[in-house]
Formats: sequence, structure tokens, C-alpha cells
Amino acid sequence: MDIATNPEMADAAPTPHQPPVIRREDYTPFAWLVPETQLAFALGLDTTRITATLSIAPNPAADISSTIRLNGDGLKAVSVTVDGTPVSDWTIDGGDLLVPLSAAPHTLEIVTEVNPSANTQLMGLYGSGGMLCTQCEAEGFRRITFFPDRPDVLSIYTVTMTGAKDAFPVLLSNGNKVDAGDNGDGTHWAQWHDPWPKPSYLFALVAGDLVANTDSFTTMSGRVVELAIYVRAQNDGGDLRRTDHAMRSLIKSMEWDEQTFGREYDLDVFNIVAVSDFNMGAMENKGLNVFNTKYVLADADTATDSDFDGVEGVIAHEYFHNWSGNRVTCRDWFQLSLKEGFTVLRDQMFSQDMQGEAVKRIEDVRILRGVQFPEDSGPLAHPIRPDSFREISNFYTATIYNKGAEVIRMMQTLARFECGAEAFRSGTDLYFDRHDGEAATCEDFIAAMEDGAGLDLTQFRLWYAQAGTPQISIAAEHSGDAVTLKISQTVPDTPGQKDKLPMPVPLKIALFDRASGTHNGEQLLVCDAAQQSFTFAGFADKPVLSVNRGFSAPVTITRDIADEDLVFLAAKDDDSFARYEAMQDLVVRHLTAASSGRLNDADRETARRAIGNAFAAIVADTQLDDSMRGELMMLPGITYLAEQQPVSDPSVIHSEREALKAWLGRQYEAQLTALHERTAQMPFGLEQAARGARKAKTQALVFCAAGNPQRGADMAAAQYHAADNMTDRQGALMVLTGLNSAARTNALIDFHRRYADNALVIDKWFALQASSLHPRAIDHVKALADHQDFTLRNPNRVRSLYMAFAANPHAFHAADGEGYQIIADLIIALDPINPQTAARFVTPLGRWKRIEPARSALMREQLAKIAAVQTLSRDTFEQVSRSLER
Ligand code: BES
Ligand code: ZN
Repeated sequence: MDIATNPEMADAAPTPHQPPVIRREDYTPFAWLVPETQLAFALGLDTTRITATLSIAPNPAADISSTIRLNGDGLKAVSVTVDGTPVSDWTIDGGDLLVPLSAAPHTLEIVTEVNPSANTQLMGLYGSGGMLCTQCEAEGFRRITFFPDRPDVLSIYTVTMTGAKDAFPVLLSNGNKVDAGDNGDGTHWAQWHDPWPKPSYLFALVAGDLVANTDSFTTMSGRVVELAIYVRAQNDGGDLRRTDHAMRSLIKSMEWDEQTFGREYDLDVFNIVAVSDFNMGAMENKGLNVFNTKYVLADADTATDSDFDGVEGVIAHEYFHNWSGNRVTCRDWFQLSLKEGFTVLRDQMFSQDMQGEAVKRIEDVRILRGVQFPEDSGPLAHPIRPDSFREISNFYTATIYNKGAEVIRMMQTLARFECGAEAFRSGTDLYFDRHDGEAATCEDFIAAMEDGAGLDLTQFRLWYAQAGTPQISIAAEHSGDAVTLKISQTVPDTPGQKDKLPMPVPLKIALFDRASGTHNGEQLLVCDAAQQSFTFAGFADKPVLSVNRGFSAPVTITRDIADEDLVFLAAKDDDSFARYEAMQDLVVRHLTAASSGRLNDADRETARRAIGNAFAAIVADTQLDDSMRGELMMLPGITYLAEQQPVSDPSVIHSEREALKAWLGRQYEAQLTALHERTAQMPFGLEQAARGARKAKTQALVFCAAGNPQRGADMAAAQYHAADNMTDRQGALMVLTGLNSAARTNALIDFHRRYADNALVIDKWFALQASSLHPRAIDHVKALADHQDFTLRNPNRVRSLYMAFAANPHAFHAADGEGYQIIADLIIALDPINPQTAARFVTPLGRWKRIEPARSALMREQLAKIAAVQTLSRDTFEQVSRSLER
């Protein structure tokens, strides 16, 4: 019996190889309050000495304790002083520092030392390109000093930093700079004070040779806020001017949050620092956000339109956390979706307002269904408020983030239909007001929504507790002048959860009159039982049902609708999402049937004709803007298609999907060429029309190249060389990389040479090759791993090669299992360097249950190989053992 796959044995005997399970139900408040924290840093890349002075007092809301347990991870205490007296009766237990104390207020002074340049995990204090920076969420602060490193211990921080003036001319921390000076010995110091009590995960420090783009913002109550975006001075060859878009995005975010949620910024400064070595996208530290360069730097020559959107969305997200996360924080990490789900919803709403609602909604649903649905149906499924974990870093998931956002979006929809246009805002106002300065729970959010918006969310709470994507089936029956919708709901079993209850599913619907192509208004059906019926009178003819408009609920829907009705909706629906969905449905049905071998040649031809008619209408529709056209042309992704079958063969889905692309490309070559030519006339600009043209242009190219590779290579090479912006250039290179042609090699060489000094663009160069349609993509990946620009030390570079590869179905799912082996070997090599990033690569291997038997066995074999490594990190251990469970 494999101990690693037995959850009960795992719980019973935690060993270094069996990290303990942490449970939500075990929450207790910390025994001590820490009203004030003073941190003094003597900075150095190889040695930084930290003196932490904590004022502590017994917590009246907790049981009395005669010791204090301060979390530590890999730390040595240089000294411990209690109320001014050095003590030696402290002990270290599992990394934590235990100090015996009387149950009274005390001052604790603790000195630790760390080596930032040896910190390859990029958690805690680390060096990146000569600068020092921190990442503390979720549990990185304990790698800097001993502290109650949990989100419900709020403290007021004062930070003093001393360091060499030449290496660290800029010294930053949270809050406002209150003092600074020169030590006269080549070092200088600065002191920062953050007046807002915060948990340790929001602490940040940055020191380095930085330059800033500055601006200011006047808040709605007239406070002037100084804004600065810092980049490394060595990179001022261009990085500084590449921060303009980020600055504009920040200012728009500040305005939007005042207007939409009534939230005002609360410090005199807001600083952002861009770092090139970063595990995630960005981090919302109070007053000092730290960003992956990928989400700060953008100009037309080096960033695509979607990179620009990424910057705008992530800047907004981190800024919005100032209220949803910082002013109101989380009681414990099980409540993570309280801040992340809500903040994702807020950034989605912002981007919808900035770029247009329809396309943004489609993009968000694509991510949800392409990433979160598979998670919810796989071995790592968990509710948006999990019940247990071993390593919290593993729970920054699409479920917590994207499903979490959908759940709050459903509350918003319910509030709008049932309680009025202002109700949702009343709920969020009450939430912020009631819990300002507190560490709150998801339950607090729901209760505030009930009290503030006027909703009854009793049954709705199940959305927080039950994992799995609800499955809805709908049958429409017409008799006399009435139509009846019979709707049933099941919530599938997920690991550790069976026999679930029905949840309230708000479905926006419209019933279309086939003849006129119109409907009498949208309505909201709330399906909250296993089976129910809804009857609508006044339909002499059977109407066409448009359902889950705007994707009002994160569910899957099966229904008895004819292909011709889908074609009708794809052409006529006034809800853009529903229109997109009808087109997707049409293709999904066909590809699902085709890849399960259920189609003869005649049926295949009929289905292709129906899809082709809808496709041609989209290509030609002059009413449609190009951005939506580009969106509607895209075929559903392979992961989403694979989700439609209990067990799938990714290579079959891939070849069916490619065959359809090629057929469409051949069939509509003239129309696609015309579209490509028209959109190529549009001069470069950042406005919607020009962006839309670029999107439609590359889509046209994609289909042309599928239909006629030779001609496609010429078109792509022409687009590549004519490009005056990265969107066109990358689009063309993507198509070329998938083709066997001399133009491919030339363009790849040209691209590398052109952008050799720009790491973010070189990341694209790796990713394009790893995700290409080229039949030898797997060999390209192996060669790229040995390229002089490749390194396991930089998460962006690792992701650009291997995440792109793992998401490239035909290469990753190579029949002999070599793709699985490449990812397993990567995990084993990366785990000791950067466990958080390594663990994220387990997911693609964990899908084995849903893959055909031969590949499934090969995937398990690789998972077992990883599990056999005795020194696995907690991160990778947890993901691998969950993924192996049968
Ligand atoms: N708080 C997170 C950053 C974070 C994530 C810290 C995981 C520690 C572990 C931040 O607010 C965040 O969510 N960032 C996202 C981007 C966002 C736009 C969804 C990220 O980094 O991917
Ligand atoms: Zn976040």
C-alpha cells in the first residue's frame, strides 16, 4: 500500500515527507495581539540582518498562553530579548520559535540573519538582478523573521532600512516615508511607517538601483497621492518609458474604484516596483505593490494587445486589493476567495468597462471553462472555500479565483433581478463598512450581502462548500400556446465529496420568435431543485431558447436543441455571449461526435456545412466589430473539448479540430483572404477598431494557413516583415512556427536577434516554439532546454518553455509518453530550486483519469516517479499525492 496515496495514514503520521493537513474547522484565534512591529534591516545581498521589535499583549478573545509561538521557516535566531533582557530559554520547534512568557504585555526583540542571494524559492527576502525585494504572501514573512505569520494578526509596522548607497540608492517599504539620512560611511537609511494595521503577508521591502515614472492622483475627497512605478536603472534603455501604460491603468483604476464601489485610496503614496524574478503575476503589499515585469512593461514594439490588457487588468486587480484584501483582510487562508474571488470580479468589471463588455466576458468564460472546469472535474477539485490543505500556495487556483469571482457575480445578478439596480452596491458598501480593519470570513461577506442587498442566500451558501461544476439539463416542450422548460440539476462527486445538494443556479433566458428573430425580454430563472419546470404562455410556435445568457451561472448545460436553432442563435442572438456560445456549441457537438468515432463521411459533411455557414456569416457580417469577429471565429480549445467526454484521446480531438480548421480555411479561402487584406490596411493604433482589426487579421491568417500551408507561410512571412507592432509580428510568427518552411527558420532567427536584450520578448520566442503546431515541437522543446538563454532560476522563462509545452496537446500527449516524461523531469529538477513553481506543473499530469488508457498509464507512471523522490517539497508532495489518488 502506497502511503503517499492514503489520506488517512497521511493525516495520522506527519513526517518531513508527510506534511500535516491543516483544517478550516480547527481555526482558533492567536493567543497574543501584536499592536506594533518595528523592523530594522541592515541590507546586504549575501547577508541581511533583521531586528524585529514586537509589542505584544495577551489576546482577550483567546485562551491564555504562557508561551508565544512565532512562525519561522529556515531561520536561526541570532538573539532573543524580552523586555530589554536577553533570554536563552527559547526553543525551536518545526522551524517556529517558542518563547516562554507571562500572560502580560511585553516587548520582544528578535534578531535574525538571512542570505537573499541564496533564496531561489523567491519567497521572503531575495535578490533579483542586484536588487533586494520581498514576497510574503502567503507564508513568506516567516522566512525573514519569527512572527505570528497568519492573516488575522494585524499590526502597525515601522520599517528602518540601512544599506550601501551605491547598490541600494532607493529604499522602499509600506506606507509613507517618514525619515531618511546619510550615515557618512557609504551607507544611508530610510524609515517608512504604515499607519494601517496589516497582516504580515502584506509587508514589503525593496532596495536597489531603481528609476521611477511618477505622476499623481487626487482622490474624491481631495487627497493628493504621489504615484511611482519603479524599474531597474540598468534597464532604462527602454523599461522606463514602457511603464506609461501601467501608469495610465493605475490612474484609471483609482478613478473607477471611486465611481463604481465608492472606494478611495488611503495613503500619500502608491508605489509599484517591477521585478524580473517573480513567482506570480503581482502582489498587493500595502502601498508598495511588487509586480512581475510582465505586468508592468508594455509598448507597441514589444507587447501584444493582450499583453497591454494583461497589464491593465493586473494593475487594477492589485490596486483593488487595497480595499478587498488589505483594509478588509482574511481571517485565515481558507477564506482566500474572500479577497481573490471578489477582487477578480472587480478587475473583470473594470476591464469590461475599459475595453467593452462582450469580448471581455467571452475571454473570462474561456479561461473559466478552459482551466477551472477541468480543475473542478479532476483530482485537485476543491470548493471555493476549501476545508483542508497541506500547502496554501497550492490553493491559489482557478477555483478560488475564477469560480470565486463567478459566485459573487451570481450574487450580483440575483441582487439586480430580485432587489434592484443599487442592491449589490449596498451589499458591498455594508461589507466594507462593517469589516473595515478586520480579518473577515466568506460568511461575513455573504451576511453583508444578505443584510445590505436584501437577498436570502441560505441555500446559495452551498456554492462555497460544494466543489464540482453543476450539470444542468434542459428539455423544452411545446403544446398549445405554451412552452415548458424542464430543468434538472446534478452536482458531480469530487474527491472527498459525494451526494451533493442542488444549488441556486441563476439562468438568464430569452425565448426567440423564429420568424421575427426577436424576443419579449430577458428573464431570470433560478433553478434550485433537482428537477423543476417553468411554463411560459403566448407562443403559438415553439420559440428558440437562448439560455445562460452572459454566462449567468458557471454550469454546464445539455439541452435538446437542433443544429439549425444554434445556427439561428449564432446569427441573431442579441446577447453577444449567447451568440458566441451558439457558435461554440455547434462546433463542440461536431468535434465531440467526430472524435468519439460516431460520424460517417456524410454526417461529417453535413455538420461541417452547418458550421461553415455560421462561420462565413461571422466573417462577412458588416454589423460586427472586428474584435468580436475575431472572438467568434476561434474554435473551442482542446481542454474544453476534452471536458465534454468522460475519457478522451487528445490526439484524436487535436486532429479533428485541425481538420475542421483546414476545411474552413479551404472552403472560405477567398473570404478569409479578403478579411486579411482589409484588416491589414488599418494603420497601427491602440484604439478598439485598430485592435479589433489586428485580432481578426491573425485569425484570418490562422485559417488560411490551415487550409493552404504553402500560401499561409507566404502570407505569414509577409505579415511578419511588414509588422510595425508586436501583435502582428507575434501572430505571424505563431503561424510560421507551426509550419515546415524556410520562412519559419528565418523569422525565428530574426526575432531572436531583434529582441535579444528584452527578456519578456525572448519569453515569447520560447513559448511560441513550445506551443507550436509543428509536428516536431517536442524536439524543439528539448533543444530549447539547452539553449543558452534558458534557465530554471527564472519563473517567467520556465513557464514560457514548459507551461506552453504542457498546454500544447499534440506535443505533450505524444503517444510514447515522452511529453509526460519531460514535465516530470522538469518537476524533479525544479522542486529543490523553486517548489511553488514546480508544483504548478503537476496539474497537467494529474488529468490521467480522463485520458485514454495507454496514455493514462504513462501519466501515472511519471506521477509515481515524482512521488518516489524522498526530498519533495510540501508543495509538490501535496499535488502529486492528490493527483495519484484513485
Ligand atoms: N495576492 C496575489 C498574489 C499572490 C498569489 C501571492 C499567490 C502569493 C501567492 C495577487 O493579488 C494575485 O492574485 N495575482 C495574480 C494576478 C491577478 C490579476 C489574478 C497573479 O499573480 O497571478
Ligand atoms: Zn489577488
